[in-house]
Amino acid sequence: MTYEESCEKIRQILAKNSNTNPEDWFLCMKARFGMAVVFNALRDIKGDGKVLTTPYTCITAINPILISGLTPVYQDITPEFLSTYKLKDTDVDKKTLAIVMQHTLGMIGDKTRFRKFADKHNLILIEDSSHCVTRFARDEKDKILADISIHSFGVEKVLVGSKFGGAIYLNPELKEREPDLYELIAKRMNRLKKPGKITALRVRTYRYNNALLQRLPARMRNGLRGAEIKAGLLEPAVYPFEQDAQQDEPLSTNTYINKRIISQLETLKPNYIRRHANVDLYRNRLKSSHFKLISKLQEPLLAFPILFENAEKAQKAYEMLTSSGYFIRRWYYPLIYPGPNKAKLYRYDPKKTPIAEKTAKCVLCLPTDLPIIQTNQIIRLINDQKSEK
Ligand SMILES: Cc1ncc(COP(=O)(O)O)c(C=O)c1O
Repeated sequence: MTYEESCEKIRQILAKNSNTNPEDWFLCMKARFGMAVVFNALRDIKGDGKVLTTPYTCITAINPILISGLTPVYQDITPEFLSTYKLKDTDVDKKTLAIVMQHTLGMIGDKTRFRKFADKHNLILIEDSSHCVTRFARDEKDKILADISIHSFGVEKVLVGSKFGGAIYLNPELKEREPDLYELIAKRMNRLKKPGKITALRVRTYRYNNALLQRLPARMRNGLRGAEIKAGLLEPAVYPFEQDAQQDEPLSTNTYINKRIISQLETLKPNYIRRHANVDLYRNRLKSSHFKLISKLQEPLLAFPILFENAEKAQKAYEMLTSSGYFIRRWYYPLIYPGPNKAKLYRYDPKKTPIAEKTAKCVLCLPTDLPIIQTNQIIRLINDQKSEK
């Protein structure tokens, strides 16, 4: 299969999985690169401006806004969805250009309010579906709400074996509403350069390198990982320079990345079925009184979030589960994960998002891709851990 044929195949699978058209999908090496293209084009067409977004996210979702010369305006979250919920007219002014609608861990629910809000204030609605590849927020008629939708095949996302790759969906309605913006994004996405030889080598060796590192004792692993990143041998999920609002030049995929994406997309259905089944188990069987179940949604989540009464209890449960051999994530702690080196550079003021600040310290995210027997063990361990006053 040639590179072009593999791109077309991915577009067709994405379209089939989401009831969309293949030509509306554009590929890149990482979702953050596609986001950079989107925000850059937005800045070039509309000039300086603000983007409403959430601090309950990865730093790689904020950098594309900053490097484009736009200003992120952080909205507080609701713990029930771990994302923006209350849309406030007072957050919008003449300079506001867009709003990001992030489906944290794949919690989509009913987000029709976002479309109405975007229409009311003439904003571009950008959906972050990085945690729920091929899934979209839709209205009651199944119409996609967003103007632009971001999807990721990268590390710690739904497809565990691809490690690289992202896709941007451009809603054909955007072509009518904002033809210049649509054309500029499409043109720039189509012109992305392929990874150079060294990057391509890092991509190829990533899985083996990472598997090797995982076998080492924690102290050795962290030291060697750092040294490999410095020496340019390992592509980390987040580079240290990305905590300083910097990002590499956006790149497209290559034939190797496409091959991995295709084989992973072929398992997407069973992947989502397994995640759904695990979400149901957690929802039905987690009974401890020292935390709240967050998600009430019947969705195949990337991980299942639970909210502890305080940071100490969350940390205690985290240590107990990790020492039992489970890989538990603290999405997103610290906020704008793994945290900016200078909050000022990120225009982030923690006082303005107190719920996000508090929630991030108290959330644990349980894996949803394990065999049922292991999920049951996690449930037993958590239920057995006594709440301490
Ligand atoms: C919410 C969110 N958006 C975007 C991204 C960027 O995805 P990628 O790693 O494919 O660049 C991430 C990655 O961590 C994310 O968590």
